[in-house]
Amino acid sequence: MTFPPLCHSAVKTISLTRFLIEEQRAARVNPELRLLIEVVARACKSISVAVGKGALGGVLGDAGTGNGASINVQGEAQKKLDVISNEILMDANAWGGHLAGLASEEMDHSQRIPDAYPRGNYLLLFDPLDGSSNIDVNVSVGTIFSVLRCPEGVTEPDDEHFLQPGTTQVAAGYTVYGPSTLLVLTVGHGTHAFTLDREIGSFVLTSRDMQIPPDTKEFAINASNQRHWEAPVQQYVADMLAGKEGPRGKDFNMRWVASMVADVHRIMTRGGIFTYPLDAKCAAKGGKLRLMYEANPMAFLVEQAGGAASTGRQRMLEVQPTALHQRVPVFLGSRNEVAEAVRYHTDYDAG
Ligand code: AHG
Ligand code: MN
Ligand code: MN
Repeated sequence: MTFPPLCHSAVKTISLTRFLIEEQRAARVNPELRLLIEVVARACKSISVAVGKGALGGVLGDAGTGNGASINVQGEAQKKLDVISNEILMDANAWGGHLAGLASEEMDHSQRIPDAYPRGNYLLLFDPLDGSSNIDVNVSVGTIFSVLRCPEGVTEPDDEHFLQPGTTQVAAGYTVYGPSTLLVLTVGHGTHAFTLDREIGSFVLTSRDMQIPPDTKEFAINASNQRHWEAPVQQYVADMLAGKEGPRGKDFNMRWVASMVADVHRIMTRGGIFTYPLDAKCAAKGGKLRLMYEANPMAFLVEQAGGAASTGRQRMLEVQPTALHQRVPVFLGSRNEVAEAVRYHTDYDAG
């Protein structure tokens, strides 16, 4: 058999598989991590199929029967698709030999890979279905994941072994199950987007090296919490709302999907700032969004795309986690706008 001349093999489409093999050849990813990412991507395809069936698949509505919805460790009612997506990711990742343990929004504690299978060198954390309040109204939802190294010498990882700052992540990504299914990925060398070609069942590279514009006129916040926000956030948002006549000297637009994946993906594409600040309702918990499988992976992806991510008072990726389901305030997106939000906190704290 003869291969076509090399110049003709410069195919127009680069699948996720080809992309990862080329990353491996460039020593940016090792075979074990490549396999791990392929497995997560495959699981996300299955979730995409389940989400896409909607009412026809009987997958809408709350999980649990009889005495109301089942409640997860967060104290939140689980949707059927939260449970299904968690099971898909757990099943897909159990047997490949690339992981030592997994942790999920939907499970109280991390789980070790069963003894029946070899254990690998990585730890995987995920939010199996992000934005689940949007499932029943047919608005975009997604999956978020973060990959850490299992600490040296640890073969039986527990929750404590997952408590590593976001700077130690070796890969992170999210999928959006929207009009198209997208996977956005970083292994620490830029942020890249892949669109699912539903006819061939393969993720295809559609944006290499995404770049978030440094400045923006668009912000995302759940404004219904305004009366609960802490003072610097009140001031920051008030100044944006004041528009051209206010201290910011420009008019802002606002968007809030209530699926972090969809809001972050908009910012990845055209810039903006996404905020879920500390407010009186969530202050006791430290915030609304979870550090380990929402804020950190998104912060890694955003930084790799030239953006910034902060708690308002600290670079997100440098927060030392103290609990698996720890919550944090989140400000991420266009780097100059994140710096502006941080400045309101710094000025306030300085009196
Ligand atoms: P999840 O569905 O995984 O619990 O996450 C929901 C999160 C996030 O996706 C979104 O930005 C935020 O909660 C929405 O919160 P509000 O409903 O308070 O707007
Ligand atoms: Mn979520
Ligand atoms: Mn979720």
